[in-house]
Amino acid sequence: MLVLGIETSCDETGVAVYDSEKGLLSHVLFSQIETHIEYGGVVPELASRDHVRKLMPLISEALQKADVKKEQLDAIAYTAGPGLVGALLVGVSAGRSLAWSLGIPAIAVHHMEGHLLAPMLENEAPEFPFVALLVSGGHTQLVNVKAIGNYVLMGESLDDAAGEAFDKTAKLLGLPYPGGPELAALAEKGTPGRFRFPRPMTDRPGLDFSFSGLKTFAMNTWTDLQKNEPDEQLQQSRADIALAFQDAVVDTMMIKCRRALESVSATTLVMAGGVSANKALRQGLQAFMEKNGGRVFYPRPQFCTDNGAMIAYAGCQRALAGEFQGLAMKARPRWPLDELEPA
Ligand code: KG4
Ligand code: ZN
Repeated sequence: MLVLGIETSCDETGVAVYDSEKGLLSHVLFSQIETHIEYGGVVPELASRDHVRKLMPLISEALQKADVKKEQLDAIAYTAGPGLVGALLVGVSAGRSLAWSLGIPAIAVHHMEGHLLAPMLENEAPEFPFVALLVSGGHTQLVNVKAIGNYVLMGESLDDAAGEAFDKTAKLLGLPYPGGPELAALAEKGTPGRFRFPRPMTDRPGLDFSFSGLKTFAMNTWTDLQKNEPDEQLQQSRADIALAFQDAVVDTMMIKCRRALESVSATTLVMAGGVSANKALRQGLQAFMEKNGGRVFYPRPQFCTDNGAMIAYAGCQRALAGEFQGLAMKARPRWPLDELEPA
């Protein structure tokens, strides 16, 4: 089964070709950072227009790199949600139309299922069942995964998603978009232990998260320091705040992951989504799982953030199960993961 995957849910245009026998044949990505940087965040209309410009050339490039003619494809998979509606519609309409013109099936992929299955693209892939920590710009979720499509939501963020909290904290510290990786890089220069930020919602049972208070804590700390410290110290203080913020997020996630694993007696943890590219989070969870006799799996960093490979892979699994989309072009900006059916 040879599947073309298309991702356009936010600010990255991703295309890939996945073969169920040979694995990933090609993947190409265009990031819109340059377009959005001057606005400090993603401008939805600009994102849609950029997807329109980049998608068709990227499809040609992905096919060429895979040495595949479009007539050889068995199906086209595209992200149908959740995400920005205009951005989604570009991939949905291109993917659905291309499938129609080639007379092959189309597959509407759930973006978070794409993230969740991305570790399957690695040589050492996790086996079901496992607990998944999905941490992206729009979602923070703990999911009990028994099989493809068998997803039970165990907990989620009640306010800002983890990536959103990283981005907003980065912005208030004066860092450019996209804030998450910028804040992580700054945190590497921070002084360990100078500040200790709260670990939100860890003092009570449950698996939900809340990160907006942490962002406010960072803002208040920064505002106080700006008033009280000489200018030459502020650069170091900014890094110290970045580190304290990152430590708090990582620690909170470790506490919740441990609870989630214990509650279903699981020993395998999968993490995916943009924030799973965070080195401190990867190292923290790796050390914790090793100490407790379990294993953690995550995608290579470039498949943590949005990409076409995860959509081609997830689409291929759905195609193998015979799940295809009708002729309607449907984008779902909101789409709960647990509405998916087992493959
Ligand atoms: O999965 P993704 O590419 O897009 C969504 O589905 O939202 O995730 C993007 C998010 C952004 O909030 C970005 O700042 C965050 O992932 N991110 C990071 C890192 N790399 C990306 N956050 C913390 N540390 C990183 N290294
Ligand atoms: Zn994503």
